[in-house]
Amino acid sequence: MGTDKDSQPNAYNNNENRSQHIIRSCTIEDLEGVIDVNERELPEDYPYFFYKSILDNFPEAFLVAINARGKIAGYVMWRVERIPAKNSLRLISKGHLVSIAVSTDSRRKGIASDLLATSMPAIEKSNITEFVLEVRVSNYGAVDLYKNFGFVIESIKKKYYRDGENAYYMIKTVETE
Ligand code: ACO
Ligand code: ZN
Repeated sequence: MGTDKDSQPNAYNNNENRSQHIIRSCTIEDLEGVIDVNERELPEDYPYFFYKSILDNFPEAFLVAINARGKIAGYVMWRVERIPAKNSLRLISKGHLVSIAVSTDSRRKGIASDLLATSMPAIEKSNITEFVLEVRVSNYGAVDLYKNFGFVIESIKKKYYRDGENAYYMIKTVETE
């Protein structure tokens, strides 16, 4: 793990030894690498200013995974949405998983799991009542990953994607004491 980012306070080495990567906060210099991974791995692409605004507004849960060669192997980004609660005008906050992706050559090594395990407690600090996300119904791997983290399928959003595919709307309620 010889990257110069290792010394950053919020970087940590995963101790499972499943892959040589570190998880750390995304910086403005990382955005190009994040966009590269997104464009290679997902059909849902966003303009630069979209990534920049997520980084400006929700930096605590915008993380990157850096591989042993110092390259960005994956990212995760969340945003907090304030919306009216069901049957009430009260506003509640939800943590919305905007996007997560891992490079094809770095998959099944626990990188997405590490990204979620680190970003979920970070976005939870915004007093959210639930974590939410949409995922293509055909994306079995991602659906399994989310189920591992306690997400359940709440509903189906018909023709959610531009190509007409349906999305599962998955949620995980935040435990409150
Ligand atoms: N098939 C079956 N199960 C899978 C798969 C798969 N392809 N990928 C992950 N899982 C499940 C397994 O249970 C796996 O545990 P295991 O390897 O011990 O069996 C577990 O999730 C953990 O997998 P990770 O290694 O942590 O996941 P990885 O780093 O490979 O990344 C991801 C998973 C992000 C879905 C990756 O395949 C990817 O980038 N896909 C393309 C982009 C994408 O689909 N992103 C999600 C879109 S939805 C959204 O962003 C809100
Ligand atoms: Zn969404």
